[in-house]
Amino acid sequence: MEAAGTMEGTGTMEALRERLEAGGQGHVLRFWPELGGAARRALAAELSGMDVAEINRFFRRARGDGGGGEAAAAALDARMEPVPRDVLGSATRDRGLVPRWESRGLAEIAGSRVAALLLAGGQGTRLGVPYPKGMCDVGLPSRKTLFHLQAQRLRRLQQLAEEQHGTPCHIPWYIMTSGRTMESTKEFFQKHCYFGLKKENVIFFQQGMLPALGFDGKILLEEKGKIAMAPDGNGGLYRALGAHGIMDDMERRGVQSVHVYCVDNILVKVADPRFIGFCLEKGADCGAKVVEKTNPTEPVGVVCRVDGVYQVVEYSEISLATAQKRGPDGRLLFNAGNIANHYFTTAFLKDVVNTYEPQLQHHVAEKKIPHVDITTGQLIQPEKPNGIKMEKFVFDIFQFSKKFVVYEVLREDEFSPLKNADSQNGKDNPTTARHALMSLHHCWVLNAGGHFVDENGTRIPAIPRLKDANDLPIQCEISPLVSYGGEGLEKYVKDREFRAPLIIDEDGIHELVKNGM
Ligand code: UTP
Repeated sequence: MEAAGTMEGTGTMEALRERLEAGGQGHVLRFWPELGGAARRALAAELSGMDVAEINRFFRRARGDGGGGEAAAAALDARMEPVPRDVLGSATRDRGLVPRWESRGLAEIAGSRVAALLLAGGQGTRLGVPYPKGMCDVGLPSRKTLFHLQAQRLRRLQQLAEEQHGTPCHIPWYIMTSGRTMESTKEFFQKHCYFGLKKENVIFFQQGMLPALGFDGKILLEEKGKIAMAPDGNGGLYRALGAHGIMDDMERRGVQSVHVYCVDNILVKVADPRFIGFCLEKGADCGAKVVEKTNPTEPVGVVCRVDGVYQVVEYSEISLATAQKRGPDGRLLFNAGNIANHYFTTAFLKDVVNTYEPQLQHHVAEKKIPHVDITTGQLIQPEKPNGIKMEKFVFDIFQFSKKFVVYEVLREDEFSPLKNADSQNGKDNPTTARHALMSLHHCWVLNAGGHFVDENGTRIPAIPRLKDANDLPIQCEISPLVSYGGEGLEKYVKDREFRAPLIIDEDGIHELVKNGM
């Protein structure tokens, strides 16, 4: 077949073929003779950037770890200890200290020493939308997307810090994307003029990708001329920080504290000054924000110590008996539910990037991976898992921390992730995310002295929290530009009665105001 302007026939192509064969991955060129010029060029380019020996090494290491079933779980259970009280700060149990933490955090923000770092490289396969998750509109009255809400929270926080300290400041926003999300994310921000943030303070960078593998370690093809690639997990962050000079950028800007969080939590308090202030007061280099795990079988990882070292232990790694253990206070013993919401000093991140990153091992996720059958050339849509994706996790670096702390917050105030489509099940979907936000904002109005009335003008009893997924919240949405965490609402709502839907934004109140009192 005609080489059609590809690399075939050149030394480079031969070298590539040899390298692939030496690594036991020569099959990826099986359909080369059938490919046209453009497809050949694309495949050759993809393969020439791929370190096959390293991929094979990752596979062997990833497959070597874990496993062991019951015996391994028992061994892990015996080595686990809960988070001790002295490293724990609680937004509820230490309520009296919160104002101090908040003003410490705000001072740091006012000095432009705090950055936010968003993990937005995931494929969002469970949600199943054909665009990055941050672009999702979950049906709020304002129709704001997750990116929009987060950007406005940053703007409001900058404003609060400036008002308190009288100096202009900014919170650089680092956004990690992947090959799957970069272009559309950037376009979306451009189209929306960076949601009012300064363009130079929104920094995009891209994480790495790895090929999906069969259970035998063979690279899978998505098409005859295309490797099945997937982002290397949110722990791909640390390699990407190094690869794109992000630590240098942070240093140039004078950033000392970084708040790292996931794109899909609609309630996320981006660059939360309380969390940052708490971590600073404790002199921590690494911190995890957690919510209380109350149900032993909830599939959430818990922050704990194993052999004296902090880590996240997944629900699937321990026995039910351990998950059910309770402490003297009646709470689950292992109750620090990880919500992928972390504090790092830049000094710690630099050590991770420069020294520890190569020690991180990939976790293996068994998945249904559509692929081309290497013998028949047919596209297979598997019905059960047929291969693996290798991922690092953002919390894998806790083990390297010299001063680790945990900050506990209320789930209904700060955590409602968007993982699934509405059609899939009743958990963590657009409806639950929308309801969680409106329920929280309803609470803010009540706390600021406002009231809701029904269509007859009768006051609705103040029961703001939802009891279950079918319980409909009062329609209430407050723009992050008006309030970051419930502050400053008295002037809008105190001693007033409202009929839902109530929207408060920078243009004022939009609703049926019944009367002043
Ligand atoms: P999830 O593990 O929930 O994955 O990501 P996901 O891609 O959003 O969804 P599924 O599992 O395919 O349905 C948690 C957070 O980590 C980010 C995601 O964007 C999300 O903010 N993430 C995940 C990355 O940044 N990179 C990755 O490679 C994976």
